[in-house]
Amino acid sequence: MTTKDRIEALRKKRAAAVLGGGEKRIEAQHKKGKLNARERIDLLLDPGSFTELDMFVTHHSNDFGLDQQKYPGDGVVTGYGKIDGRLVYVFSQDFTVFGGSLSLAHAGKICKIMDLAIRSGAPVIGLNDSGGARIQEGVLSLGGYADIFLRNTLASGVVPQISAIMGPCAGGAVYSPAITDFIFMVENTSYMFVTGPSVLKTVTHEDVSFEELGGAAIHSGTSGVAHFSCQSEADCLLRIRDLMSYIPSNNMEDPPILKNTDPADRADDILNEMIPDSATQPYDMKEVIRHIVDAGVFYEVQAEYARNIVVGFARLNGKSVGIVAQQPAVLAGVLDINSSDKGARFVRFCDCFNIPIITFEDVPGFLPGVNQEHGGIIRHGAKLLYAYCEATVPKITVITRKAYGGAYDVMSSKHVRGDINYAWPTAEIAVMGVEGAVNIIFKDEIDSAENPDIRRKELVAEYTEKFANPYIASEYGYIDEVIEPRETRQRLIAALEMLANKRENNPPRKHGNIPL
Ligand code: HXC
Repeated sequence: MTTKDRIEALRKKRAAAVLGGGEKRIEAQHKKGKLNARERIDLLLDPGSFTELDMFVTHHSNDFGLDQQKYPGDGVVTGYGKIDGRLVYVFSQDFTVFGGSLSLAHAGKICKIMDLAIRSGAPVIGLNDSGGARIQEGVLSLGGYADIFLRNTLASGVVPQISAIMGPCAGGAVYSPAITDFIFMVENTSYMFVTGPSVLKTVTHEDVSFEELGGAAIHSGTSGVAHFSCQSEADCLLRIRDLMSYIPSNNMEDPPILKNTDPADRADDILNEMIPDSATQPYDMKEVIRHIVDAGVFYEVQAEYARNIVVGFARLNGKSVGIVAQQPAVLAGVLDINSSDKGARFVRFCDCFNIPIITFEDVPGFLPGVNQEHGGIIRHGAKLLYAYCEATVPKITVITRKAYGGAYDVMSSKHVRGDINYAWPTAEIAVMGVEGAVNIIFKDEIDSAENPDIRRKELVAEYTEKFANPYIASEYGYIDEVIEPRETRQRLIAALEMLANKRENNPPRKHGNIPL
């Protein structure tokens, strides 16, 4: 064979590998409204930046006729490329080969790029579209999954890990994405569950469709498993690119700084009118955020889940920040089980990856109720408290209105190492809401008054005047400065600059024991 022949043979082998399970199956994939593994990578990465690895890997199983069915690549395309010029590792499961099911060889390819990613400090993005464990391989496939779970865990907090679910993801396979930092799902074509509808029908007699059990809407709105629900695969892949612009490549790096055209000293008069005169009237905290951050762009995470807390990324003078904020427009912004979990996980992500945390606080406290107590609000609320306490990234807080009770402590207060704590003049920092406080401490006085209603109103007014404000906290230095809402952007940017070289460490230990 001449050299020319050999090169020609390589080209042919490559061309065959690119076809995965063959043209017919690619066509079937398209008919379902899905792209194939390589088309997805092309949309995700900068044009021409993808370098594939292990294109010719095949399984080595002989049972159930597998020796007659070998496809180069074995159902997953792996390699590395760039997003906005920055290195990322990618695996993209190929449903046209054994339904993207995971063999030992397939798992080995994924593990190889994960190991490279950890060694070279770059994110891993997994595009999942798989029928789960390669049934014919039995325990080899289960072992392959465990190899991936281990690496997901070891990579956690070292490099960002992002999962896109673009087809089936069932059984134990869901646990790899579940360990990663962010899960994107595509509406109508992706689903995740531990046990599928047919098993449910037999075991629990529940009759439910794939979509109802584990579709994008359910996981982004009800279970909180997914962080983003995307209208299409293209939408999903573009949103992953967007997310990357806010996060660093690894835990030793700072997030990218983007060019900013929004003046750092911009004051915004609308903010001075944002808080209603009545403390019980809602307003939209997302509107507040948009008036403060660069160009009004807020990249919200888990927008549909536990909407009483808002989390997401934005930029202040080009620098990435993580925002955690109560949403007074939903359940008065109360902290409950789900919002505590949502906030805690986001705070911990930011802390892992050197992203300063800005907290906008308007919280009437933890949600009372038997359901909440029996559901473990103590345990779940403790997660958020723990997450804020352990975070050592710059932490800046703005109390816009209520900071009541334990929630005052939790939400990045000075006492849990908030670096800079601002309050608007509308802030009310107290042990509880005014009505509740007056009813407790003046109970006898109200009961014995000639006109209890009038006396209660007087006492409420007195208490409000005295305690429902930010000034007592500022006298103790718990609030660094009471600021006009309009100047919030300037203040935050100045504080971030001041804290740019912040160094703070927790005591050495193997790891803490966050209440789970
Ligand atoms: C081997 C598989 C496979 C699997 C699908 N295929 N799943 N091959 N192992 N797990 C193959 C099919 O034989 C078929 O091959 C091709 O992939 C496409 O599958 P279809 O069934 O034709 O596609 P579709 O109708 O879209 O249905 C997709 C599906 C279904 C819902 C995923 O294939 C399915 O239910 N598969 C089995 C899922 C499953 O039970 N997996 C094990 C879960 S347990 P041909 O040659 O016809 O193209 C698990 C444990 C993990 O994963 C534990 C980790 C700890």
